[in-house]
Amino acid sequence: MQKFVFLTKNIPMQEMQLLKRQGYKIFVGGNVFKKGKGAHGLLCLLTDVIDEKVMDVIGPQLKVISNMAAGLDNIDLVAAKKRRIIVTNTPGVLTQAVAEHTVALILGIARRLAEADRFVRAGKFKGWDPELFLGTELRGKVLGLVGHGRIGCRVAAILQQGFQMKALYYDVIRDLQKEEQCGLSYRNLEDLLKEADFVSLHVPLVNSTRHLIGQKELRMMKPCSFLINTSRGQVVDEQSLVHALKEKRVQGAALDVFEQEPRLTPGLAKLENVLLTPHIGSATYETREKMAELAAKNIIEALQNL
Ligand code: GLV
Repeated sequence: MQKFVFLTKNIPMQEMQLLKRQGYKIFVGGNVFKKGKGAHGLLCLLTDVIDEKVMDVIGPQLKVISNMAAGLDNIDLVAAKKRRIIVTNTPGVLTQAVAEHTVALILGIARRLAEADRFVRAGKFKGWDPELFLGTELRGKVLGLVGHGRIGCRVAAILQQGFQMKALYYDVIRDLQKEEQCGLSYRNLEDLLKEADFVSLHVPLVNSTRHLIGQKELRMMKPCSFLINTSRGQVVDEQSLVHALKEKRVQGAALDVFEQEPRLTPGLAKLENVLLTPHIGSATYETREKMAELAAKNIIEALQNL
């Protein structure tokens, strides 16, 4: 029986060849409801909502959903389990890219890069000034990681080694081995928010992390502190964040993800003390290639014994 794999979007040529060499019938793009029917494997992206309805339309032969992302919040995992569908993701391969982007956001917001760039482009730069665009130095400051998975630990390593930052972390499970390995100190969320100069979010989106950072938590942060989010937009109550930023209850925020992505909460884009990027944490040539390869291999492995 020829196996059928539906891809919601094109992946790089080399990885497509990997799938083709298996002899699969392959269909790329278009409406999954119309074109995905009968697929044994589905390769999808974090922007594809894969719920019960989608699974049922594709049909009971669907064996694997391979998400080309680390997060799995776009997939109804309970519905997949009920149907005995294997769900895979691409963790590990994007750690360095997301960690580097997080560090870029931290430097960018601390030194007001986007704001300064807008200033220069607007023709407002009239010459060196001792008080022009003063920012915050990283050395000796406190990094507060919310979530201490691979990405959080890599961010901590870069900032500890390169900038002599002190790193704290909060997670639902305390990991003594990791603390030792990564040189992290544990704090409960409240203490972390009160101590950190840079609060960086690295949790998956699950029910318990939705709006983990809301009005109450933002009030705990220091007025000189910054919030960085490269995880999922819904971890932050964006409306409360806009208020906190307007009232300077936190100094700034750098966001790569948004609560109602790709829409922005009204008022966010008008603020000067934010740095916004369009969900590009893992967007390097190297990493996207590795993500596509892993996603394709996950399909092949799951379909092997069919
Ligand atoms: C990106 O956000 C991912 O989950 O891979």
